Amino acid sequence: MNNFKNFIEENKDQLNSFAKEYVEKLDMPDILKESITYSLVNDGKKIRPLSFLYLLKYYEVDYTNYFDIALAIELVHTYSLVHDDLPEMDNDDYRWGKLTNHKVFGQDLAVLTGDAMLTLAFEVLSESNVKSDLKVRLIKQFANYSGAMGMIAGQVYDVKQKNYNVDADYLRKMHSLKTGRLIELPMDFACLVADKNCDYEDVKEFGKQLGIAYQIKDDILDYYGDFEKIGKLPSDEDMITYLSFYGIEECEELLQKHTENAINIANKLNNGLLVDFANYLLKRDK
Ligand code: IPE
Ligand code: IPE
Ligand code: MG
Ligand code: MG
Repeated sequence: MNNFKNFIEENKDQLNSFAKEYVEKLDMPDILKESITYSLVNDGKKIRPLSFLYLLKYYEVDYTNYFDIALAIELVHTYSLVHDDLPEMDNDDYRWGKLTNHKVFGQDLAVLTGDAMLTLAFEVLSESNVKSDLKVRLIKQFANYSGAMGMIAGQVYDVKQKNYNVDADYLRKMHSLKTGRLIELPMDFACLVADKNCDYEDVKEFGKQLGIAYQIKDDILDYYGDFEKIGKLPSDEDMITYLSFYGIEECEELLQKHTENAINIANKLNNGLLVDFANYLLKRDK
């Protein structure tokens, strides 16, 4: 069986419980706590935090000491989706097989819930179990990957695509930023935390290739996937995606190509666990 799949099965519930208990202990308005927990503890794949922990395991680090950093990573991902689903953005009603945050708690609280998760992520990170100099580096990387030069930049290129000439380069740039950066981040963090035997640039390039493949697969699943599995519906906006730009056949080829690029790097690193990770993402149906 695929090692990454096993790892997810062994650790996902634990990560959800860790997140739930962490938020439960914090002093905040009950309605905010309920809203954060509603979106954070979900049936999503938790790919980003779990790939961070998985790579730590590969580097023979006791990954169970780093669930807090994993939580910070998932908080940023979750905030990005709570905001992404808002009527002013993709206007979606379902996520993780249930109503989107703003459909349950209202748009005002959904905006504030996203704000709270993003800021909480930095607080969690600043209290994590690593030395001060490394912590500063992680915090800087975290801001860079998720902010104006990272995921947010990609979201801007997505929502404002009508202002630009959308071609293949544009799409690749947009996807590398909006999705790729948060897929690369766990790889980068695992190298920094493990601090040994890590071919940093190669692992980051692996994350980059996988990030593009991930978004292509997301576009394909949005249209051809099963709601029962993916838990969301295609956004009804007339936006250009890999799928609408290239068509399904070319998309499947591109998905294969970027996954193979990632696998070639993993093979060069002689890292079978990363090969399993890439194959898992290629074959996923949710
Ligand atoms: C969805 O991400 C949005 C993208 C950036 C492609 P995921 O598919 O990883 O989200 P989960 O697993 O539902 O949380
Ligand atoms: C979301 O991208 C990417 C984020 C940075 C939040 P999409 O809008 O394409 O993803 P889904 O289909 O809503 O999950
Ligand atoms: Mg979007
Ligand atoms: Mg969306």
